[in-house]
Amino acid sequence: MSLRILPDSVGLAEAIADRIFEVLTAALKARGSASIVLAGGSTYHDAYARLGTVYGSKLDWEKVSFYFGDERCVSPEDERSNYGQAKRYLLDVLPVVRPPHVLWMETEDDCEEASQRYADLLPDRFDLVLLGLGPDGHAASLFPGSLAHIREGALTAVTQAELPPLVKRITLTPLALSRGEHVLVAASGAAKSPIVARILRQGYSSAVGLVKPLSGELEWLLDAEAGGSLA
Ligand code: 6PG
Repeated sequence: MSLRILPDSVGLAEAIADRIFEVLTAALKARGSASIVLAGGSTYHDAYARLGTVYGSKLDWEKVSFYFGDERCVSPEDERSNYGQAKRYLLDVLPVVRPPHVLWMETEDDCEEASQRYADLLPDRFDLVLLGLGPDGHAASLFPGSLAHIREGALTAVTQAELPPLVKRITLTPLALSRGEHVLVAASGAAKSPIVARILRQGYSSAVGLVKPLSGELEWLLDAEAGGSLA
């Protein structure tokens, strides 16, 4: 694994955007196309915005396929929608259309069906998978103790107990996330510091630990607050 701790959340957003640009550029050069799995959650918002503003005209975005690691079973207009958030912060700024460039999880009507449909359109590998980290150690919608962790298929539908109203979600399984050549885990803020230390120092086995990038190396990017307990 590799670990970088940036001084603050601005530095973290820059480092994430730079890394995404670097991986996608290399993939385009090598194969003429690239793929990325976007994460939900607020940690990536600034990085997505920066990617659009700084790198919006520096990459052939029409050759990039965007996938999602998980989604709530809500409409894209719902503020909890990961697709809706990615659209607002990044996709609307880029010359991309959905589909063919943006493969969003169409969870609005029937979550189970959406999960099956999405599993069928997933490629065998992704150039880059982005993961956030919840304070309980969840990544994508792989919550502690969930059977989704050991599911052999690529997608699963889960219900998770978050703030009411409870909302169903679908998520890529660790096996599907492990189709990532590169996998980046990012966390920001003091609230993430205890779980980061549990995972990286005390060997706590979270969903993140079940994701095995094809490159063999999980990449961690943290800001100083999230990485505060590692010193
Ligand atoms: C989601 C996610 C989830 C998220 C973490 C971190 O849709 O909520 O995919 O795994 O990345 O909960 O969320 P924050 O970045 O908001 O802390």
